Amino acid sequence: MKVLVVGNGGREHAIAWKLRQSPLISKLYCAQGNAGIWKIAERVDIPPTEVEALADFALKEGIDFTVVGPEAPLVKGIVDEFEKRGLKIFGPSQEASQLEGSKAFAKNFMEKHGVPTAHYSVFDNFDRAVRYLKDVGTPIVIKADGLAAGKGAVVSFSLDHALHTLEGFMKKSALGGAGRRVVIEEFLEGEEASYIVMVNGDRYVPLPTSQDHKRLLDGDRGPNTGGMGAYSPTPVIDKYMEGRIREEVIERTLKGLKEEGIYFRGFLYAGLMITSEGPKVLEFNVRLGDPEAQPILMRVKNDFLRTLLEFYEGKEVSIEEDHRWSLDVVLASKGYPEKPEKGKVIEGLEEVEDLSDVVVFHAGTTLKDGKVVTNGGRVLNVCAYGDTLKEAKDRAYKAVSRIRFEGMQYRKDIGDKAFRYLG
Ligand code: AMP
Ligand code: GLY
Repeated sequence: MKVLVVGNGGREHAIAWKLRQSPLISKLYCAQGNAGIWKIAERVDIPPTEVEALADFALKEGIDFTVVGPEAPLVKGIVDEFEKRGLKIFGPSQEASQLEGSKAFAKNFMEKHGVPTAHYSVFDNFDRAVRYLKDVGTPIVIKADGLAAGKGAVVSFSLDHALHTLEGFMKKSALGGAGRRVVIEEFLEGEEASYIVMVNGDRYVPLPTSQDHKRLLDGDRGPNTGGMGAYSPTPVIDKYMEGRIREEVIERTLKGLKEEGIYFRGFLYAGLMITSEGPKVLEFNVRLGDPEAQPILMRVKNDFLRTLLEFYEGKEVSIEEDHRWSLDVVLASKGYPEKPEKGKVIEGLEEVEDLSDVVVFHAGTTLKDGKVVTNGGRVLNVCAYGDTLKEAKDRAYKAVSRIRFEGMQYRKDIGDKAFRYLG
């Protein structure tokens, strides 16, 4: 069958890599892809948010199944557009995508349906928001309502910083309008982890657990990014905690969606803070995480295309997990996340791609004069398997040491938080 993957990043490379292993595939396409994806899928030169043009292409080309990577096309209604034309696509509708597309919607939904999350208030009015901030004090978290590519949440430990952030979001449109409405919420202490499930209405199937590293620098310092590395599984979510997450977060959410008359089919990602009181939702995403998808899909042993298709059709499926650990180190460009440099030649890739138990997923890469060059903030995901987390980490960093491009930056401590739990 003909399959289309929508998206350009490391997550989409991992999705394409995993789907490609299925014997059901006759041809794999990706819109628009990157230098790594173009090696395993046919390049479709339509941007992921051009949802009508993508549907035209899928009809013309006879695409049998489409899998959407990023949030922007989902929030724009790609699933509604494809379904209107009778095309099979895995992802939530525009209405269901509000769980990610609007923080205010997600917070109100969680409050209404008893899903544990930080206390919060929503503001459209700047002066009221300022008064509230002065009342409640710090530490405090300010979040833009709309999509902001990982830059929409700011933790403030001083009132000055909080007021400055608020002004940037609401008055100066620092995020191009995404921050005109803000959510101000209680600061939660604990350990973060990602819990992602595949959903089809009432039914859901958990994927392996993982932990992202959102801050730019070692020791969780520096600005928030889309994610600088991840590993799977995470000991932060043990069996007991997983039971609580399923019951208090996932099942309450699915029940709430049903009560609201919203049909959800796709990946549902709960970004969690594991606090002393239990799991609390920091954010919902309506897709796989990036970089979490990379180590997660490395550990899925199923014929993932077959599993997705059967699940899409309403059948019972289960995920078989590889016993090994997987770990992903993101290599980013100089200037990321603010103003990443582009166009730098990447060296050492061929050497690393041949290593056993190492997989390199491309993110912001493209081809120029036959060479692979950087083309965005997050450039490569250097991933490895290991029988222990330490082995996966050592193997990934050994591979990283062989790759070079001008201005390359990465965290040296991916996975380290897990060692506290592993002893
Ligand atoms: P979000 O986009 O909502 O996931 O937030 C991005 C990052 O900000 C999270 O991964 C956390 O590190 C941090 N963060 C968000 N909300 C809170 C909160 N209520 N308390 C503490 N940290 C938070
Ligand atoms: N890694 C966080 C996200 O995908 O939103």
